[in-house]
Amino acid sequence: MDRLLIHGGRQLDGEVRVSGAKNAALPILAAALMVPGSVRFHNLPHLNDVTTMIQLLGRLGVDVLLDERGSVELSAKALTSVIAPYDLVRTMRASIVVLGPLLARCHEAEVSLPGGCAIGARPVNLHIKALERLGVEFEVTDGYIKGRAPGGLKGAKVLFDKITVTGTENVLMAAVLAKGTTVIENAAREPEVSDLAYCLNTLGAKISGVGTDRLVIEGVAQLHDGEHSIIPDRIEAGTFLVAAAATRGRCVLTEVDPSQMDATLMKLEEAGATIQCGERQITLDMHGRRPRAVDIRTLEYPGFATDMQAQFVAMNAVAEGTGSVTETIFENRMMHIPELQRMGGHIDLNGATAIVRGRESLRGAPVMSTDLRASASLVIAGLVAEGETSVDRVYHLDRGYERIEEKLRRLGADIERVRV
Ligand code: UD1
Repeated sequence: MDRLLIHGGRQLDGEVRVSGAKNAALPILAAALMVPGSVRFHNLPHLNDVTTMIQLLGRLGVDVLLDERGSVELSAKALTSVIAPYDLVRTMRASIVVLGPLLARCHEAEVSLPGGCAIGARPVNLHIKALERLGVEFEVTDGYIKGRAPGGLKGAKVLFDKITVTGTENVLMAAVLAKGTTVIENAAREPEVSDLAYCLNTLGAKISGVGTDRLVIEGVAQLHDGEHSIIPDRIEAGTFLVAAAATRGRCVLTEVDPSQMDATLMKLEEAGATIQCGERQITLDMHGRRPRAVDIRTLEYPGFATDMQAQFVAMNAVAEGTGSVTETIFENRMMHIPELQRMGGHIDLNGATAIVRGRESLRGAPVMSTDLRASASLVIAGLVAEGETSVDRVYHLDRGYERIEEKLRRLGADIERVRV
């Protein structure tokens, strides 16, 4: 198991290219299951979760051709299985996004229940309820969700009780090949959902209302060949910006889309950063100043992303003043707090709210990753701490960040990966 060794105290300064978005890549890869020809996707990030999804598609009968530059060609002429097995699903909950495509194409699917998850229960009841509206019958046996729609899927009106990103994606993909029109109300508006919708339209789907909370899908008989380039990862981008801000540094991000990052950029400006945006570029400069603590409440897009919460807690821990951070999306997403406390962070946790009193600095310590974004916050804390921090269980980070230590080194960080 790899560890990251960080010697903190350096101001970050430099340029980083942002990778393709993990959360857009996963459902878009799954969408290839619905195309009886070949599709090409570009700007795919090199991540463990992407590898897992490609393995899963391989098990279902998809031919995969990857190239060095982050493009992939997928050919799903004939699927050989409709089963997403436990050994893959347990390592990546997002495997559930094959459910909608398999039902659309094969009218049946068996997806292993993902089991426990570090950041909360993360059920899939809303996915199931919505797909039932489209005519799918479900049973849960032997740890698998088994869905069948012998007569095919039928368009219907779906209203989500709660906004769900992968739930919206599953129903969207299922509806594309359903008979008739589907309307999804209270749909997730995350840019990754929109990227999936644009990709599906390129492949012949008829989806309107993209980017709004009301998606209208007119079913088509078949999708066709096509290609699509995946949007930049706004969470990776935000993580580097927060790292630069926490170290009082400067950073230039390229291949990024600032229009999808309003909530993060506004909070960083509130923290005292000077931010300049170009069409595909963001420059952040703290001019050597200590950040000011900011208040945060996570929300669905366009609100403040839950995937950026932990990183801001780390920044607040070394900021001037006190910031209150409230998590509203997941019920157990504060596991970075005890680790940050071990590094000297003055943080009081009250239910889903962390009150963070900023200190001049933190102390390096051995810390343990618990989930993807919690790990990112520990890396940021290590970059600002005095002395050495070792972050254990780096596999969490590798699920969602492409060569994070190389990119941080390019910004001047003293960080290395140690193979244990
Ligand atoms: C996606 C993202 C994840 C992000 C999250 C919220 C991917 C691969 N992952 O996860 O990075 O943190 O959105 O922006 O895109 N819920 C239910 N029943 C359901 C489905 C969800 O109760 O059937 C609840 C969840 O427990 C959670 C909330 O709804 O409390 C939102 O979850 P959801 O948007 O579904 O998250 P994911 O799609 O799993």
